[in-house]
Amino acid sequence: FFFFFLLCQCFLLVLENRNKTTPTTPVPNRQHINCSHHQLSPEERRLLDSIAWPETPRLPVPISLNTTSDPAHSTFTILPVRAGGQWHVGDELEALIQIGDFQGRPKQYGGDLVIARLHDRTLSAGVVGRVVDHLNGSYTAVFPLLWEGRAQVEVMFIHPSEAITVLHRIDREHPDRIQFKSIFRSGSVSETSVCNICLPPDQPLCNYTDLHTGEPWFCYKPRNLSCNTRMTHSKGGIKTMNEHVKSSTVKPEPAGYYYQGAWQALGGAAVRQFNNASSISQCLTDKVVHLYGDSTMRQWFEYFNTVLPDLKEYNFRNNRRTGPFMAVDIARNILVKYRFHSPPVVTGAIFLTNELRYVANELDNIAGGSNAVVAISVWAHFGAFPIEVYIRRLQSIRRAVLQLLNRAPDTLVVIRTGNLRALTLGIALTNSDWYSLQRDKVLRAMFSGLNVRVVDAWDMVLAHHLPHSLHPQLPIIKNMIDVLLSYICPPKK
Ligand SMILES: *[C@@H]1O[C@H](CO)[C@@H](O)[C@H](O)[C@H]1NC(C)=O
Ligand SMILES: *[C@@H]1O[C@H](CO)[C@@H](O)[C@H](O)[C@H]1NC(C)=O
Ligand SMILES: *[C@@H]1O[C@H](CO)[C@@H](O)[C@H](O)[C@H]1NC(C)=O
Ligand SMILES: *[C@@H]1O[C@H](CO)[C@@H](O)[C@H](O)[C@H]1NC(C)=O
Ligand SMILES: *[C@@H]1O[C@H](CO)[C@@H](O)[C@H](O)[C@H]1NC(C)=O
Ligand SMILES: *[C@@H]1O[C@H](CO)[C@@H](O)[C@H](O)[C@H]1NC(C)=O
Ligand SMILES: *[C@@H]1O[C@H](CO)[C@@H](O)[C@H](O)[C@H]1NC(C)=O
Repeated sequence: FFFFFLLCQCFLLVLENRNKTTPTTPVPNRQHINCSHHQLSPEERRLLDSIAWPETPRLPVPISLNTTSDPAHSTFTILPVRAGGQWHVGDELEALIQIGDFQGRPKQYGGDLVIARLHDRTLSAGVVGRVVDHLNGSYTAVFPLLWEGRAQVEVMFIHPSEAITVLHRIDREHPDRIQFKSIFRSGSVSETSVCNICLPPDQPLCNYTDLHTGEPWFCYKPRNLSCNTRMTHSKGGIKTMNEHVKSSTVKPEPAGYYYQGAWQALGGAAVRQFNNASSISQCLTDKVVHLYGDSTMRQWFEYFNTVLPDLKEYNFRNNRRTGPFMAVDIARNILVKYRFHSPPVVTGAIFLTNELRYVANELDNIAGGSNAVVAISVWAHFGAFPIEVYIRRLQSIRRAVLQLLNRAPDTLVVIRTGNLRALTLGIALTNSDWYSLQRDKVLRAMFSGLNVRVVDAWDMVLAHHLPHSLHPQLPIIKNMIDVLLSYICPPKK
């Protein structure tokens, strides 16, 4: 092994506006908003405990750049080989990371969001490192050594712990930081109204709570129209928050690693390569593939639709972003369907309200069976809402998955996890990777112990040399589809 060392600075620092003397200035009506209408159940309490983040500076944070973590003053060193001599495939490599502040003093506490990978471009190889926070300003990253040859350690610093304090605060004080609107129409009369998961009851509300799943959704009642004239659903805007972002821009064991550009599973089932349309079509013959979730699941539909020439999309003339979509290969008896999940949906796309379906309700309406594949990706739109909202959504989906597996145990259910994205100022405040990471832990806990398979998008994006992106690039999608197809058509022993 030869190592190159690099401290990458995908560094994003969130600071409070220092002119603000009372960091808890209430926003009108906010005190009425309580999205968790019920007491936490023991499971919810356990989940929240399990994602507890190390303590970060308390509010009000006397944040000055001087005392904030600074990647330029942070270093890491590779710990020497234990037995002396060389590293071998099968060994673990440990790197000690020491975080310093902007004045170059070592930090005394943890809570920074640090991620790491070991990779080599010429071998197209990469694996995620496990980062351990020692809570004293130092961290250890542990990497399994899985291939012969060169490797480079990359440590990425996503948020200093001071920023995590601010993200916590935004979560608590701005649960309504994304706003939604609906157009109501009857004849020539049309009105637009504000909607959300919860709204302060200071005006008459339309209650669109789903009777089956209990998922809440509300709009202010339009002045002249009734609640059942709601036509569309779309994002309204992002609340301006008095926060500053300065500067440029974990999980137990890795799920796998890249070697020569192909994902190799660790621990799980072996991954086959599906490099041409005929091998994919052959695997999908006589299958119904139900894809549910956000745009990261829509990418899977688009992949099949692009690479399989015999798969013909039925043209509903639907919005290319919202769907629903359906494609068939009559000769091989293949049906692939995609449907978006129900609100919250944080995109500019405009949904027709009669096309909004909760994943749990869709699952309740399919037969399942050995010819059915269900893939679910529900994460990207939930970062900007209280975690209880996400927990409740996953609980309803899990309930439906369990019932599906009870009535049709041969159904293959696949969960796609969340992934890292390209962080910009706006995204960091509303939907930072830290929010995604916390929700990703909840997702994994929620489905652990169930007879479902996982496509670990988090590791597959982080281990890859392509840049982090909400919508991972084609080579990563291809690898995800290889994992999916390997679950459907496992390699022969
Ligand atoms: C603080 O307020 C002063 C005076 O209003 C202004 O000039 C300065 O730009 C503000 N600084 C920040 C960080 O907002
Ligand atoms: C929200 O309501 C629940 C149940 O009524 C209560 O336990 C919780 O403390 C409330 N949260 C806030 C922030 O008021
Ligand atoms: C930050 O450090 C600089 C240089 O040591 C010092 O001049 C400045 O007063 C410090 N600022 C704060 C807010 O501590
Ligand atoms: C931080 O904690 C780790 C683990 O307990 C320890 O090995 C290390 O020496 C500590 N570093 C400092 C600077 O105290
Ligand atoms: C909304 O409707 C649901 C289901 O009927 C009901 O349980 C809930 O109490 C209603 N919420 C409000 C605020 O009216
Ligand atoms: C409701 O109808 C009244 C009477 O036609 C009209 O004056 C008013 O502007 C309408 N309000 C809205 C919000 O459209
Ligand atoms: C498609 O891939 C399979 C498996 O890799 C291979 O056996 C087959 O020859 C390929 N077919 C074509 C047309 O390239």
